[in-house]
Amino acid sequence: MKIGRFDLPNRVFAAPMAGIADRPFRQLCRELGAGYAVGEMTTADPRLRASRKTSRRLCTDGEQGPIAVQLAGADPLVLADAARHAVDSGAQIIDINMGCPAKKVCNAACGSALLRDEALVARIIESVVSAVAVPVTLKLRTGWSPQLRNAVRICHMAESGGIQMLALHGRTRACGFRGNAEYDTIAEVKTRVRIPVIANGDIDTPEKAQYVLTHTGADAVMIGRAAQMRPWIFREIDHFLRNGTKKPPITIAEARPLLLRYLDAHYSHHGELIGARSARKRIHFLARGLLGGARLCERVNQTEDCANQRRALDEFLLESAARHPFFEYIDAAESLDVEQASRTYLHDRALSEKQKFPSQLRPH
Ligand SMILES: Cc1cc2nc3c(=O)[nH]c(=O)nc-3n(C[C@H](O)[C@H](O)[C@H](O)COP(=O)(O)O)c2cc1C
Repeated sequence: MKIGRFDLPNRVFAAPMAGIADRPFRQLCRELGAGYAVGEMTTADPRLRASRKTSRRLCTDGEQGPIAVQLAGADPLVLADAARHAVDSGAQIIDINMGCPAKKVCNAACGSALLRDEALVARIIESVVSAVAVPVTLKLRTGWSPQLRNAVRICHMAESGGIQMLALHGRTRACGFRGNAEYDTIAEVKTRVRIPVIANGDIDTPEKAQYVLTHTGADAVMIGRAAQMRPWIFREIDHFLRNGTKKPPITIAEARPLLLRYLDAHYSHHGELIGARSARKRIHFLARGLLGGARLCERVNQTEDCANQRRALDEFLLESAARHPFFEYIDAAESLDVEQASRTYLHDRALSEKQKFPSQLRPH
C-alpha cells in the first residue's frame, strides 16, 4: 500500500492516540510490526506551538518515516499554516483530525465537530492540501450522530479535494466509545472512493482484523487501544493476514529488551519527573490481565524515580520469564485489580495536581 511516494511495508497501522502514541510508543509499535504510525493530535493554534506539550508532540527527531503529524483545528488558514510549520519541522504526511470526540476539542468546533459542517470541511481540505507538497490524509468518524452519518459524503468530498488516504473509525461522535464499532459505513465508503481506506475500531485480534478487512474491503486496519496492552498485536495481525495462521506468541525474553528500551525512550522524551509519572499509565496497560500485574502496578505507583520504575518492570519480566516463556494472562479478577490500581492512581494524581497547580500551570 502507498501513501503518496511512501510504500508501506504492510496493512497494519498504529492509530493516533493523544497522551499515548508519542514518538517512543510509535517506535515500539513499528518495531513490533506496525507498517505505519500516526502521531498524536496536535493543536493547529500557533499560540500553543511553543508550549511544552505541543513542541513535544511535534518532535519527530530520529523517527523512522514516513512521519505523519496529525493536526486538530477548525480554521482553514490556521490549519494550513500549522501544516506548513509541521512540514518545516519534519512531517512527511499531514493528517487532519475529524474524529476526536473530546468535549475540549468539540467545543472548539474541532475534531469530530467538523463533521456537522460539510462546507467548512471542504474549505479545510482545500486550504491544507494546497498549503503543503506532502500527502494530506484524513481521520474521521462515521458522522456526528447516528442520525447524521455523513462519512460517505465527506470522504467523497475529501477525495475530490486531494486527500490521499482516509482512516475511518466505525462510530459516530455521539457514540463515543460505547457499543460496537460498525463496519457497514466503512464498506460503503470503500465502494465510493479510489483512495486507500483504512478501517478502525475495536480490532483486537488477528481474526477480527481479517473479518474487518473482508467485510469492508478496506486497504488496511488501524489499531488503537489493543496496542496499549499488547503492542505485539501488529506483528500477530500481519502474520495472520499474510499466512492465514497464528504466529506463536511473543516470548518474554524477546519482549523484555523492547519494553525496557521503550521505557528508556519514554523517560528521555518526557524528562525524569513527567516521564516517571506518565510511564505508570503505560505500565498499567501492559500489566493488565497478566499474572502478577497488580503487584507490578503497585510498585510503579509508589515511585517517582525512573530507575526504580524500570527495575520494577525488569524484575517483573525476569520473574515471569523464569516461570514461563510466554506472558501468562489470568482471570478477570486480577485484571480488575490492575484496572482498580490504575483508576486509583489516575484519580489520586488528578487530585494532587489540582491542589498543586493552578489550572493554567498544570503539566500536560
Ligand atoms: C487514549 C486515546 C487517545 C486518542 N487520541 C486520538 C487522537 O489524538 N487523534 C485521533 O484521530 N484519534 C484518537 N483516538 C482514537 C483512536 O485513534 C481510534 O480511532 C479509536 O481508539 C478506535 O480504535 P480502537 O478501537 O482500535 O482503539 C484516541 C483514542 C484513545 C483511546
